[in-house]
Amino acid sequence: MTAYSQGHAPSVLASQQWRTVANSAAYVADRFTPGTTVLDVGCGTGTITLDIARRVAPGRVLGVDAEPSVIATARAAAAGVEGVEFVVGDVHDLPAVTGGERFDVVHAHQVLLHLTDPVAALRAMLAVSRGVVAARDCDYGGIVHHPHDPRLGRWLEIYHRVARAHGTEPDAGRRLLGWARAAGARAVTPGASIWCFATDAERRWWGGQWAERIVDSDRGRAARHRGGVDGLVARSRRVVLDPARRDRRRLRGMSRPGGARTRCTGRPPARRSGRRPGRTTARR
Ligand SMILES: C[S@@+](CC[C@H](N)C(=O)[O-])C[C@H]1O[C@@H](n2cnc3c(N)ncnc32)[C@H](O)[C@@H]1O
Repeated sequence: MTAYSQGHAPSVLASQQWRTVANSAAYVADRFTPGTTVLDVGCGTGTITLDIARRVAPGRVLGVDAEPSVIATARAAAAGVEGVEFVVGDVHDLPAVTGGERFDVVHAHQVLLHLTDPVAALRAMLAVSRGVVAARDCDYGGIVHHPHDPRLGRWLEIYHRVARAHGTEPDAGRRLLGWARAAGARAVTPGASIWCFATDAERRWWGGQWAERIVDSDRGRAARHRGGVDGLVARSRRVVLDPARRDRRRLRGMSRPGGARTRCTGRPPARRSGRRPGRTTARR
């Protein structure tokens, strides 16, 4: 049921290591109070997890990820941060991974869209929750950019095609409410927020790391194998690798004045009915 097709290339991790509670989990930040216990599922290299740990200290935080290499990176970054632990594990096996422990907040950022059965994953998250389950996922169909560039439209089309070939849903944000209900969450609060990359520096960074991901990541390789997009990848490689090319700047994110890209995400914190989030201590 794991179909993490992005891989863990440096270009992929670069976008994840920018993430904090403020820019990626603000909607649930008021739950991260001192003493709270938090399970961060699909934690990756753990930048959000460590930010949570600093907020909930002396509470306990457990980061879980299926990929050993990112867990190793997270553990190295955790030096000096109290109360946080990282373990390798699969979201579908959470009750076994946590040894029956339940958490006040069970959190997952940009994970459900990479799974072939997100409802089963949410069910597993609910099973180890004694408070709230909070999930935020991108909706690739909600990405907009300006000025128009047909190559960025083609990139999105390929992204959708490759994700669906892996049996995953790239337009996850709009589906989160339905997934949460299907998983058995009875009180669900849907919401949406965006990442906006508009300044010159933001567009250079965001467009640049995506350009690298196209030519050097598992997603890029999958596009070549599954999408029949050799031409596009070859063109992207030339554009990225040849700094003299004029249109390199356009691929890197519309760096003309006024250019911008936003990335839309939906995120319903699913609350167990009849429980005060983060306060119920009873175990089932
Ligand atoms: C897009 S990254 C998000 C990382 C982190 N939550 C963040 O936002 O920076 C998705 C992560 O989910 C992990 N993952 C994918 N399938 C998983 C599974 N079945 N169980 C646990 N982790 C999984 C991947 O290894 C990857 O690190």
